[in-house]
Amino acid sequence: MIASAGSEPTSTTTAGSDPTSTTTAGSGPTSTPSATPDPASGPANRWLAETGGTQGAAYVERFRRLAEQGQDVHGEARLLDELLHREVDRPARVLDAGCGTGRVAVELARRAHRVVGVDLDESMLDQARAASQAAGVDVHWVRGDLVGLARLVTERNFDLVAAPGNVMVYLTPGTEPDVVAALAEALRPGGLLVAGFALDRHVSASDYASWCEVAGLQPVRTLASWDSLEEENAYDGGDYAVHVHRRPRARL
Ligand SMILES: C[S@@+](CC[C@H](N)C(=O)[O-])C[C@H]1O[C@@H](n2cnc3c(N)ncnc32)[C@H](O)[C@@H]1O
Repeated sequence: MIASAGSEPTSTTTAGSDPTSTTTAGSGPTSTPSATPDPASGPANRWLAETGGTQGAAYVERFRRLAEQGQDVHGEARLLDELLHREVDRPARVLDAGCGTGRVAVELARRAHRVVGVDLDESMLDQARAASQAAGVDVHWVRGDLVGLARLVTERNFDLVAAPGNVMVYLTPGTEPDVVAALAEALRPGGLLVAGFALDRHVSASDYASWCEVAGLQPVRTLASWDSLEEENAYDGGDYAVHVHRRPRARL
């Protein structure tokens, strides 16, 4: 299987390619986290607790090296683009939820989609801003926690909300159902939510399915990786999956 970077945390073909793998949270933070969680303010965001909110440059460097080694670092964007072409006959409105350094958002913008990227880690967003500038594309970057998405981004007509790169397992503990509900609310009727994440951590496929159901989303399909939309790539077990849900055209 040729898996794209970020798509197969445990794949030998992409060893080290997924910065969200169990062994290398994020891009493999190499420094001691500096953001000490404040116990009075509730559970710390898992990403910030693990990386200290300082790993943006290291994340970019890691993917730069992977690309240099010939690894596919744009599998997610390619698959999302293909999906969008099947769904809409115009450049799509995309929300990249937990956009990080803009790895996926910038590539989608390069493919003419109109993209908003939201992330809470300023070190990641710094890299994202630089990446969109370098690529000469316009992406609207927003800093904040996805649980407050409705306040951060007022738009509600996204064709696609994407959460590639294990975002679901890095959310603030306890906020996951609310985040999924917020992502669902940002979709136009008929829009898609696509999330890829490792299933060998604290979020199971059934957890995620139930959050989506409560959020009023309908399951469309589950893929084993970001490789392709073909039937051969249907999920059939394993510790990584890409989940595709749709906001019903008419509210149920
Ligand atoms: C492993 S990175 C993936 C980044 C990007 N999606 C990619 O595939 O390259 C996970 C990202 O999720 C973001 N994140 C985690 N919890 C978040 C939250 N509650 N709100 C916004 N962003 C969040 C982190 O800041 C981090 O940039």
